[in-house]
Amino acid sequence: MIVVAAALSSTAATSSVAAASAPRPLGQLVPVPAQVVPGGSPYAITSTTPVRVAGGSAEVRRIGAYLAELLRPATGYALPVTDRPGPGGIRLELGSRDRSLGEEGYRLRSTPAALTITARAPAGLFHGVQTLRQLLPDRVEADSRQKGPWKVAGGTVTDAPRYGYRGAMLDVSRHFFSVAEVKRYIDQLALYKVNKLHLHLSDDQGWRIAIDSWPRLATYGGSTEVGGGPGGYYTKAQYREIVRYAASRYLEVVPEIDLPGHTNAALASYAELNCDGIAPPLYTGTTVGFSSLCVSKPVTYDFVDDVLREVAALTPGKYLHIGGDEAHATSHEDYVAFMAKAQAVVGKYGKTVMGWHQLTGAVPAKGAVAQYWGYDRTGAAERKQVADAAKGGTKLVLSPADRVYLDMKYTKDTPLGLSWAGLVEVRRSYDWDPGTYLEGAPPEAVLGVEAPLWTETLTNSAEIEAMAFPRLLGAAEIGWSPAAARDWETYRVRLAAQGPRLTELGIDFYRSPQADWGP
Ligand code: ACM
Repeated sequence: MIVVAAALSSTAATSSVAAASAPRPLGQLVPVPAQVVPGGSPYAITSTTPVRVAGGSAEVRRIGAYLAELLRPATGYALPVTDRPGPGGIRLELGSRDRSLGEEGYRLRSTPAALTITARAPAGLFHGVQTLRQLLPDRVEADSRQKGPWKVAGGTVTDAPRYGYRGAMLDVSRHFFSVAEVKRYIDQLALYKVNKLHLHLSDDQGWRIAIDSWPRLATYGGSTEVGGGPGGYYTKAQYREIVRYAASRYLEVVPEIDLPGHTNAALASYAELNCDGIAPPLYTGTTVGFSSLCVSKPVTYDFVDDVLREVAALTPGKYLHIGGDEAHATSHEDYVAFMAKAQAVVGKYGKTVMGWHQLTGAVPAKGAVAQYWGYDRTGAAERKQVADAAKGGTKLVLSPADRVYLDMKYTKDTPLGLSWAGLVEVRRSYDWDPGTYLEGAPPEAVLGVEAPLWTETLTNSAEIEAMAFPRLLGAAEIGWSPAAARDWETYRVRLAAQGPRLTELGIDFYRSPQADWGP
């Protein structure tokens, strides 16, 4: 039973006086949960509330510590994390027998006696913690002590994701972003239950990951960016720190080394990778499709093997993304030959191939994932090629550019971003269904949704946030929530309710006129 709509309509009816201390309706969440059963009196966090992780593993204790750290600054409460059994408190419990929760689902039960989150696996507890966080007043996100009360509406939320792949991509190549900036984005993604961070680590304008066997890739190939700024790269230690931090927020890092095009930074770093043996200059413009590895040279495959081996070794996750998009400077024959070899290398190092959907124009490896980034003007033949590959077993992650490319301008007046796929307002970004989006593709081929953010025009966290927020929330909901639980009219209300929380978090989001953000 889904009673989200009922929970929401009570918001509108609440008088402002009562609203000041009434808890947020249980269904007022993004992503909207699978099932909400409101009822009973609220739970209140007080100065004596413990976070109980009784019988929990070290990992459950870490999630408890994370929750307590989130809540302490604004509440001013001690919120001790304890594995001593006892009544009451905020309780994190593994071991639900409800199989429908899967690896990432949770149940949150709020009564005056206790606030209990149960799950079958730690990821579910973590997502349940994000739900608890969103149910508390927005000011819980403040970094200084705020006035209570800290109430959570009574009732039960039972929730599990529609898709296992709920991603966001950050292009750290066109402009480089520091470890701190990436961590900030990770924290924002976690709040909306995104579980994959795809890092676009190489492109014409910059190579951003240290490779020991080809050191100039980073030291030279990473030395600039779009516009000619100083660029940068992650040392292996820094990259591992990003992976560790992402994992602590239950996000898997999907590294991308874009091949065989989008490789000017590599070609500039090593003359021998070029067919003519001459290294081109570094590139700081924004044209695409002009570079290609030299498909006929054996050294190209030494390079591919070395790079993918080192990146695979840094990657605990399942996927290695090898790009394959816009290889306009590679002949079709060369492209097919190259992608076959590159995919074999990914397999050799124990990873699953991911590529942009042009991979379906070659021969996708068994188990490969194609990331569809077409849009409303993508030709029927190209769409059919991807759908046919999906019928043949290739899995899909959907990133339609005119829906979830977060770098597309919202309107013609948006100062940042691009518009080649059109203007993408918040409703257009939200109002589509991955299950039926690509005609002819079997719904079960769809692993999920990813919202890429390309950074030709973006240089810092504030600019990332201006484009990602609020559309990222819609992409997160499309990936998480059951199709039957979501629709634009209720979404726009729930989205607007996130506005003050984003503001507390220091996120200056686009106040789309399509939602009522209030004063
Ligand atoms: C892409 O936007 N070139 C994948």
